[in-house]
Amino acid sequence: MLSAFPLTLVRYMLPMAKGFKHQAFVFLGVILLLINQSEQLQSSQTHTLLRLQLLLNYPDILSSWNSSVAFCNAEPTAQVTVVCYEESITQLHIIGNKGTPSLPRSFSMDSFVTTLVKLPDLRVLTLVSLGLWGPLPGKIERLSSLEILNMTSNLLYGTIPHELSSVTGLQTLILDENMFSGQLPEWLGLFPVLTVLSLRKNLFNGSLPDSFSMLENLRVLALSHNHFLGELPDLSGLTNLQELDLEDNAFGPRLPRLSNKLVRLALGKNMFRSGIPSELNSFYQLQWLDLSFNRFVGPFPLSLLSLPSITYLNIADNKLTGMLFENTSCNAELGFVDLSSNLLTGHLPSCLSDSKDAVFLYRRNCLTTGNENQNPLTFCRNEALAVGILPQRKKSKLPKVSLAFGIIGGIVGGIVLLGLIFMFVRRLNANKTINKPTTRLIREKASIAYTSKLLSDARYISQTMKLGALGLPPYRTFSLEDLEDATNNFDTTAFMGEGSQGQLYKGRLRDGTFVAIRCLKMKKNHSTQSFMHHVELISKLRYRHLASALGHCFECYLDDSSVSRIFLIFEYIPNGTLRSWISGGHSERSLTWPQRISAAIGIAKGIQFLHTGIVPGVYSNNLKITDVLMDQNLVAKISSYNLPLLAESAGKVGHKTSALPKDPTNSSRVNYEDKVDVYDFGVILLEMILGRQSKSRNEAQILKNQLQTVVATDDVTRRSIADPAVQTSCSDQSLKTMMEICVRCLLTDPTERPSVEDVLWNLQFAAQVDSMSTSPSDSPSQPAHLHVAFH
Ligand SMILES: *[C@@H]1O[C@H](CO)[C@@H](O)[C@H](O)[C@H]1NC(C)=O
Ligand SMILES: *[C@@H]1O[C@H](CO)[C@@H](O)[C@H](O)[C@H]1NC(C)=O
Ligand SMILES: *[C@@H]1O[C@H](CO)[C@@H](O)[C@H](O)[C@H]1NC(C)=O
Ligand SMILES: *[C@@H]1O[C@H](CO)[C@@H](O)[C@H](O)[C@H]1NC(C)=O
Repeated sequence: MLSAFPLTLVRYMLPMAKGFKHQAFVFLGVILLLINQSEQLQSSQTHTLLRLQLLLNYPDILSSWNSSVAFCNAEPTAQVTVVCYEESITQLHIIGNKGTPSLPRSFSMDSFVTTLVKLPDLRVLTLVSLGLWGPLPGKIERLSSLEILNMTSNLLYGTIPHELSSVTGLQTLILDENMFSGQLPEWLGLFPVLTVLSLRKNLFNGSLPDSFSMLENLRVLALSHNHFLGELPDLSGLTNLQELDLEDNAFGPRLPRLSNKLVRLALGKNMFRSGIPSELNSFYQLQWLDLSFNRFVGPFPLSLLSLPSITYLNIADNKLTGMLFENTSCNAELGFVDLSSNLLTGHLPSCLSDSKDAVFLYRRNCLTTGNENQNPLTFCRNEALAVGILPQRKKSKLPKVSLAFGIIGGIVGGIVLLGLIFMFVRRLNANKTINKPTTRLIREKASIAYTSKLLSDARYISQTMKLGALGLPPYRTFSLEDLEDATNNFDTTAFMGEGSQGQLYKGRLRDGTFVAIRCLKMKKNHSTQSFMHHVELISKLRYRHLASALGHCFECYLDDSSVSRIFLIFEYIPNGTLRSWISGGHSERSLTWPQRISAAIGIAKGIQFLHTGIVPGVYSNNLKITDVLMDQNLVAKISSYNLPLLAESAGKVGHKTSALPKDPTNSSRVNYEDKVDVYDFGVILLEMILGRQSKSRNEAQILKNQLQTVVATDDVTRRSIADPAVQTSCSDQSLKTMMEICVRCLLTDPTERPSVEDVLWNLQFAAQVDSMSTSPSDSPSQPAHLHVAFH
């Protein structure tokens, strides 16, 4: 009977027995136990127990309880134990049957705890599987001697009451399998002697408070199966930590520093995406290591197989690379190894494949096994993508500073702004040189190169100042994680289409802004450095009449760090294509004449910016009316332009670059490259005026000729061929001007076509004469920026 008492029970009867590990104390404890057991319980406490029995709805397990039972002398069972010390109950264990239904509606957790606290000397309280439901009342704090609280498998909900923080002697808090929710409070990390914190299978969310790094007595931290997320605090100070169970949450992307005393480390089903830290090789006590179902990248350290204590190793479903050898050694105690679904190559270690006792799983790698459950070697080579792009350290810093730029930039002059940018970039660079933890911080390197270039480019800075008013966030590098977040892991619902410029996804960033993400697959063997001049160009593509670039992201092959994919992030333009506002029978969605002129001016300005607003200019953009998008204010934006980068994207290059002058010596073509865009602009303008699509170059020429003949005739004839939607509302002079410039843009001889500046001048003239001829009452429908301004 006595042997049924675990060692710890003895301890709670012997508060002075601090060094109870010693045999002598144990012995003494057993003697005291015998004495105590013949003790009589205070009658008030007997009443309390019977009241608890009532409140618990007379469960079967308490059927033996009645007023004549000597509780302190009752033989403990697996389900019910009462331990007394000096006529007072110090321990109460009631363990119901698994799956006990919730107590009836009449049950009140508040009354239950009110009764419970009449056992003021309780040090150990176990109330498991009793169907308790309701929030845990704060008055539980009145059990001020409580050291162990185990309320596993009930239906408790709400947050952990903050009153519990006053129970400073609490060593073990187990609330597994309940429905507690909300974020863990900061004070939970401030318990001076907490050794076990187990909150498995609840609905907790948010990230762990930083105070957890101070729980230096903690031996067990079990938070699995909750909704926790984000970075973990530094746990390296938890030098006594033996079990860390975080399975099935959304922790990540980085693994914090950990104590090397760990025995069990369960990180499965989270969002970790770092490399496996080399410190793990020194975890000599580690028996259980589960990293499965994350996105761990980089080499799989073979030494993990031969850790001195390891018995369970699961790295399934990650992106770990590396080569296994037949002679790779492993710990003889290994009973379970799962390497499935990684990017491993080489041969099966014979210590695993020959073992009869160990479970060894290795499907879906690129191992040489002779089995069919492996991928071809090229698969692992190609898929060995160094995600490696770790998110920025302090997420809040950057946006705040840039917001400040927006405001300051608006008020103070350019000199101040320049100074600020200079300071900011210097600080940024300074920060970066201080902490450069890994070699795979590609995005960091990229942004240094990018920002220093930025400084030397005053033109770009003046451009950003103008854009401050447009409300675009500053250009930046994105992490792959940002993009996966934004697109729900590039889910099909986010897919917008695939074209000559790669796949296009719609995404939503954490701050709520929608973006369009272009994904370009690259041919191998180019480093990020070789793309920097492209990135520099793209970073300048920010203008009112462009779908502006917001940033980029490199994804790299792991083996040689060459770029595998480039993601270009653009602002998302919500209001459809210009064509959808012109033709196709959307009469309720047809631009008015002034809006059309305004859109035409927008496109022309966009072209002008592409040609002359950045160096080198971007020409031959193969503009189409479907590539002009309308934003919520009906501002026209060119969404597709001829980036040299696209030519380097593997495979599909398409027509965009075929329009590029391939031979630089062919100077006559180079001279007219701006006129290619003018022609394309003419085709767009044609559709805006006539409301009719021209499906081929030939058809456009026929329409142009028609236009050419009516331009010279009278007002009525001109109106008769214009889009019926605007026929009656446009002024004659503006219609005529638009038709004239359209015809000139479509001239077959490029030298005869007008310059972009000429086009703009004419469009603005058309806008001006139209606004003068319309009555003031019409004008509110015009977009505000139609005011003609020549610079
Ligand atoms: C109390 O329970 C014991 C058995 O546990 C039983 O022998 C005894 O008769 C009960 N007394 C009363 C008053 O019900
Ligand atoms: C808490 O209760 C559960 C369920 O009975 C049990 O499995 C677990 O070992 C208990 N924990 C402690 C520390 O007593
Ligand atoms: C956490 O859950 C609560 C409800 O249980 C919710 O109100 C809160 O917004 C959640 N917090 C986070 C950060 O998800
Ligand atoms: C294991 O085998 C590889 C080649 O298969 C060899 O390069 C390596 O030296 C061997 N290591 C040991 C410890 O025998």
